[in-house]
Amino acid sequence: MQCSPVAALILSNSGAVRKCNRNWNAVLPARDKSFPKNANRAIRRTNTACRKLIRSVKRAATSAHSKILILDFGSQYTQVIARRIRELQVYSEIVRFDTPAAEIARLSPKGLVLSGGPASVYDKGAPHLDPEIFSLGIPVLGICYGMQLMAHHLGGQVEFSARREYGPGMLHVTNSSQLFDGIGEQIDIWSSHGDKITALPAGFRAAARTENSPFAAIEDPQRKLYALQFHPEVSHTPRGKEILQNFVYHICRCTMDWTMGSFIEEACARIREQVGDQKVVLGLSGGVDSSVTAALLHRAIGDQLTCIFVNNGLLRSREEEIVQRVFGENFHVRLKYVDASERFLALLKGVTDPETKRKIIGNEFIKVFQEATEELLEEDHRKSARKHGGYKFLAQGTLYPDVIESVSIEGNPAQVIKSHHNVGGLPEKMHFELVEPVRQLFKDEVRQAGLQLGLPKEIVYRQPFPGPGLAVRILGEVTPERLSILREADTIVVSEMESSDWYYRVWQSFAVLLPVRSVGVMGDQRTYENTVVLRIVESQDGMTADWVRLPYELLARISARISNEVKGVNRVCYDISSKPPSTIEWE
Ligand code: XMP
Repeated sequence: MQCSPVAALILSNSGAVRKCNRNWNAVLPARDKSFPKNANRAIRRTNTACRKLIRSVKRAATSAHSKILILDFGSQYTQVIARRIRELQVYSEIVRFDTPAAEIARLSPKGLVLSGGPASVYDKGAPHLDPEIFSLGIPVLGICYGMQLMAHHLGGQVEFSARREYGPGMLHVTNSSQLFDGIGEQIDIWSSHGDKITALPAGFRAAARTENSPFAAIEDPQRKLYALQFHPEVSHTPRGKEILQNFVYHICRCTMDWTMGSFIEEACARIREQVGDQKVVLGLSGGVDSSVTAALLHRAIGDQLTCIFVNNGLLRSREEEIVQRVFGENFHVRLKYVDASERFLALLKGVTDPETKRKIIGNEFIKVFQEATEELLEEDHRKSARKHGGYKFLAQGTLYPDVIESVSIEGNPAQVIKSHHNVGGLPEKMHFELVEPVRQLFKDEVRQAGLQLGLPKEIVYRQPFPGPGLAVRILGEVTPERLSILREADTIVVSEMESSDWYYRVWQSFAVLLPVRSVGVMGDQRTYENTVVLRIVESQDGMTADWVRLPYELLARISARISNEVKGVNRVCYDISSKPPSTIEWE
């Protein structure tokens, strides 16, 4: 579809910019040597102005969502609050607790939530907010520590308590607060707080009480300030979603405009704006994040995107086939398949130390990827007379939890565990400009986007798989024989988990091959063979995990199939360690 710049302007506001966007450059009047110099200058100036105008209209169109900002005081539930609000189809973003009021006003949210946190308002170094935010006229909901801060800054009394009150309770709603509309007189709640409020700030009234506290919920409806001593965001407060709904819809008057459909449309517009007519390269691993990123970019810029899929020889059975089928054949994404398995396996020969394995694989991946982009460029130049300026952009499936600046506050369990995985990360010196179209999304949102973009369920809901692949699941040396044993065992685990409907209920389920042989008996023969461990865990985000209490019958079936069908294995063990102290992967 072609359109004039003015039509593009109108269409960009009406949401149809996606269709017209790619071509509006082509319809701007072109300069011509036969024109007088002045005319060419005027054309250039007008075109520049047109482009600027269209960009600014598009920016305005994509940032016009209702938005709730969450000030993070270090609670382990901050991200849960953000997700709950997004589940209400309202966009929410986490910002630092000390974001100045002027900056908040500039971001123009419809409401603010002050998260909980591990500190006491009286602690030295406790996180405090800019009190001016209470005068912005924006509705505020304080939760737990956020409530105490609100009371503390507005002239109430907060009593220090060395003992935390923790666990379930009953909330009695005492006043007809808008926050509790439609909720009834009493509800189950879940609390975790130390300090408590003993005197209300001027203008406030109690909205609900518990057995231990007359001020379990307080409000100043005139100034649209609300606060809760308990956590409405956790599942142990079953009606908490309705409380958040009342705040977000009725008090903040947000519209439900955060949907995956609108996200995809806007993300495509942003990608086109960032990339223009340049080429983009993406390292496709077959995991959810890079797959959804690839599908989104393909929707936005078609063949300007090339995906590179590196077979490092450490993949699961048929992995390269699945990725090539889904992206190459079904999606028609331009895909460069690089079989570098021999290179990786040669480098891993004789290596047994886990960290050395990881380093070798990470470094080699960078080399292979770099060579692949150079080859791509050569191929492009060979195929087409019209040379392009190279692959300037690198697309990555960075997610929102990776970009939230974590608030480090003493006593916050969320800060303790740090990820060590960056295998596959490409170095800055490669001089790519990054395109990260899903960096606003949580994992569950990425999955929704993937489904909406037409990716199959087997990609969208697949379990995480580490960058260094099966190398970190083969303890000791990685050899072609050991890889083949592990692949066969792993295929059995996956197929049994799928057919028993357990695959999608757990975080990960896989096999590990130990460098341990033991004696067994098969028929009348004594055997001396390998040991396979089953690692099947549940987790929210991979940071902590617990082993899954699988039915014995299923464990028995997996064990029997592996020892009967996989040559070289005569013993199967079940790993019953949680993380911490263990990790999910064995290396
Ligand atoms: P651990 O073993 O540290 O793993 O408990 C936590 C989660 O991260 C995955 N994992 C990796 N992912 N590159 C990745 O992309 C890696 O090097 C890597 N190592 C572990 C692991 O599968 C689990 O989901």
